Amino acid sequence: MAVMDIVHYGDPILRKKCASVKDFSNLDSLIDDLYDTMYEAEGIGLAANQVGLDLNLFVIDISHTDEKEKPRIFINCEIIVSEGQSVFPEGCLSIPEITLDVTRPEFITCKYQGLDKEWQEEEFSDLLGRAIQHEMDHLNGILIIDRVSSLEKMKVNKELKEIKINAEKKVSKRSIEKRVVL
Ligand code: CO
Repeated sequence: MAVMDIVHYGDPILRKKCASVKDFSNLDSLIDDLYDTMYEAEGIGLAANQVGLDLNLFVIDISHTDEKEKPRIFINCEIIVSEGQSVFPEGCLSIPEITLDVTRPEFITCKYQGLDKEWQEEEFSDLLGRAIQHEMDHLNGILIIDRVSSLEKMKVNKELKEIKINAEKKVSKRSIEKRVVL
């Protein structure tokens, strides 16, 4: 169990389309770490590339708003049907302290695998449906700033620049550290 570093806007891994999960054998501890990291950051969802991993998986826990819900794991998730439209303010652990009104389909049907590799098909709406779409966007390299008008994006331009500069510093520091251990 470990809390990992969450990468921020400006880190290239957030712009990558993540690779499908093929090897399910060592996922248990990774998923524990994802949950630990998400709870520590007080988020309701976390995608693998937000901790620097190029894998098509994410976790979500909305049990604080809906006690019937439990923590959920989505592997190789795909949205196969989407309908309707709703607007809701969203934040993102990779773009700290910025909230944007994001328009998304209201109802979705997803196909995904669980830890047991079994495929499931399920319909989602409300907060869970929205969280799934947000995390799916992450795995496709899309962020909430790409889902708003350029005018809305301009309003947070200063904050975005700052986050990006800091993230880029961390990325270059990481590559220097890597060179040292090699
Ligand atoms: Co996010």
